[in-house]
Amino acid sequence: MKPRTSFGQKTLGRGYFTSKDIFDMERERIFRTGWLLVGHVSQLDVPGRFFVFDLDHESVIVLRDEDGAIRAFHNHCRHRGSRLCAAGEGNLGRSIRCPYHAWNYGLDGRLRSAPSMADVAGFDAADWPLHTVVVETWLGFVFISLAREPQPFAHVLANLTGRFAHRDTSVLRAVHREVYLVAANWKLVFHNFSECYHCPGVHPQLNRLTPFRNTENDLDEGAVLGGPMWMNNPEGSMTMGGERCAAPLPGISSEERGRVYYYTVFPSAFISFHPDYVLLHRAEALAIDCTRVTCEWYFHPDAIATPGFDPQPAIAFWDLTNRQDWTLCENTQRGVASLTWQPGPYSELESQLAAFDREYRRVMALDAASGD
Ligand code: FES
Ligand SMILES: [Fe+2]
Repeated sequence: MKPRTSFGQKTLGRGYFTSKDIFDMERERIFRTGWLLVGHVSQLDVPGRFFVFDLDHESVIVLRDEDGAIRAFHNHCRHRGSRLCAAGEGNLGRSIRCPYHAWNYGLDGRLRSAPSMADVAGFDAADWPLHTVVVETWLGFVFISLAREPQPFAHVLANLTGRFAHRDTSVLRAVHREVYLVAANWKLVFHNFSECYHCPGVHPQLNRLTPFRNTENDLDEGAVLGGPMWMNNPEGSMTMGGERCAAPLPGISSEERGRVYYYTVFPSAFISFHPDYVLLHRAEALAIDCTRVTCEWYFHPDAIATPGFDPQPAIAFWDLTNRQDWTLCENTQRGVASLTWQPGPYSELESQLAAFDREYRRVMALDAASGD
């Protein structure tokens, strides 16, 4: 039987935070094959609206088509390969027009017209649609996989499915986005989010609202890990003053009102369900020692429309906490690069890190004993 706690487990070894070879292996085994959380349906609120997701040389257009379906396509033209969308987001209207020779694609990816190609022997536009990318949504969050035949989404994220069905986060809208460049490996960012062992000393503001032992993990194995922390004020929230910024979100129970539910979604996101808002962190590994974290604050449209609505106490609270955390991650990146550093033992308050490492080893197909 698999261990369920951190008992006896140590951190991953230095190479997992410093080696370009490991980073390249992660690209192949994790990021180019797994499911990645890339956005939210509110970014695709009307047909034609799109955003672009990039991973190294790959670029993916995620859009809403004319029938209202969400689709994803590789962002290059089937003619001579030009990038199609240069902007990171926007509205395409009713088609995708290549900026080079004006081949024109429908929002369903089909090639609709190709100037001066009618006389080319054997040319049939039906043979040249955009390359599709698989896309799934869960509670309004949009996931893609760059694999041609990925493992089924419902299988990979089995412990997510159905679990939060009473939370209709697809209707929420982001009121703020903050982008951080963190000089640390992506796994250190995941590790940092996965424990509150560091909270008393580093996050006095957070620890006042949710003392670090007010926690239990309800998902402790697999691709999704985490659980609730309960607040000293059962009618509060995680904000600068500890007060909610809005009415509780629809559908949550009275018990859930006093709690914040923190989950990591391997390998790309953290989702934090607050009583009155949802916080999303998306982590993108840009290099072995560099991670871009995009943080968004989602509120209910009714709250946003309420006169006097002010999300600033929630934004300021997590921006402060985020920056405190990035300093820790960057310190750790510098420390583990030392040739004298050896993997250290996890505490019982770091069982989620041990579980993350087990999932990481499984996906990377590493021997459970390796990692030094
Ligand atoms: S490269 Fe797109 S139309 Fe020629
Ligand atoms: Fe933290």
